[in-house]
Amino acid sequence: MDNHLFLLLIIILGLTAIIIHIYWKNKVKGYLKSKKEEDARIIHLEKMASLGVLSAGIAHEINNPLMFLIINLNFIGKFTEDENINKSRLKDIKVIVEECLNGTNRIKKIVQDLLTFSKQSGGERVLTDIKQLLDATIRILWNEIKNKVEVVRDYRLKSEVWIDSSQIGQVFLNIILNGAKAIKDKGIITILTDEDEENVFIKISDTGCGIPKDKKLKIFEPFYTTKGGTGLGLYITQTIMKNVGGRIEVDSEVGKGSVFTILLPKKDIENGYTQ
Ligand SMILES: Nc1ncnc2c1ncn2[C@@H]1O[C@H](COP(=O)(O)OP(=O)(O)O)[C@@H](O)[C@H]1O
Ligand SMILES: [Mg+2]
Repeated sequence: MDNHLFLLLIIILGLTAIIIHIYWKNKVKGYLKSKKEEDARIIHLEKMASLGVLSAGIAHEINNPLMFLIINLNFIGKFTEDENINKSRLKDIKVIVEECLNGTNRIKKIVQDLLTFSKQSGGERVLTDIKQLLDATIRILWNEIKNKVEVVRDYRLKSEVWIDSSQIGQVFLNIILNGAKAIKDKGIITILTDEDEENVFIKISDTGCGIPKDKKLKIFEPFYTTKGGTGLGLYITQTIMKNVGGRIEVDSEVGKGSVFTILLPKKDIENGYTQ
């Protein structure tokens, strides 16, 4: 009888332990899930904020080809009013139409880039050409940087990779924009893409003011800013890199410039595996 009681007690204790275990596991899971959702919300908010800051420049980049289109279409309108239009006029029109198509393509590209950037990431990875993503980022920033920055592209990476292009695009945007802000008058931003055994990496170097040694960790803290920004760019960049299993490294010398290296582990990006 005593034995039976003992066994019953053990079973009850065991069951209680299992129930507590399941309860905590779910609680932790729920916490991690809500943390992830919270991260995604902050990441998206910061992205919309930076697009907001850039919107005047982007409108400008759209406005230029648009003005050009309007002027050229007016020309064509005038030419075609002439009922005895001759062959050489038709040739002129052909040239103008070609120029108009170039202009519409420029607008189309910028709008596409904007759609890519503004979309809220669902965390899914798609097969991405890193150089196209970098070029799209530069187009979005172009009006902001064109007067003082020369962009040197050294794209060595050949293969496409599986990444969350919306989030990694945001990382590129933050770092290139920071580099441009660090340059006072005129300077160079060099973008190198390459790979080694373990990682695909993207190195973004600027010839800006540089970062003092004792601030190299601080720059990743939320709200740390020396230029009246949000101070969230690098914090979010690091959060994104942690979420995708990669990392970001910084090397800098005051007065010379900075190098930010984004590392993406190959084991995570060479197939269609999704988180
Ligand atoms: N390329 C860079 N060169 C020099 N300083 C930089 C660079 N990138 C970031 N920093 C420093 O790190 C700070 C934080 O950057 P970030 O998190 O993007 O916020 P914000 O751009 O809003 O200031 C910047 O204010 C600046 O002091
Ligand atoms: Mg920034």
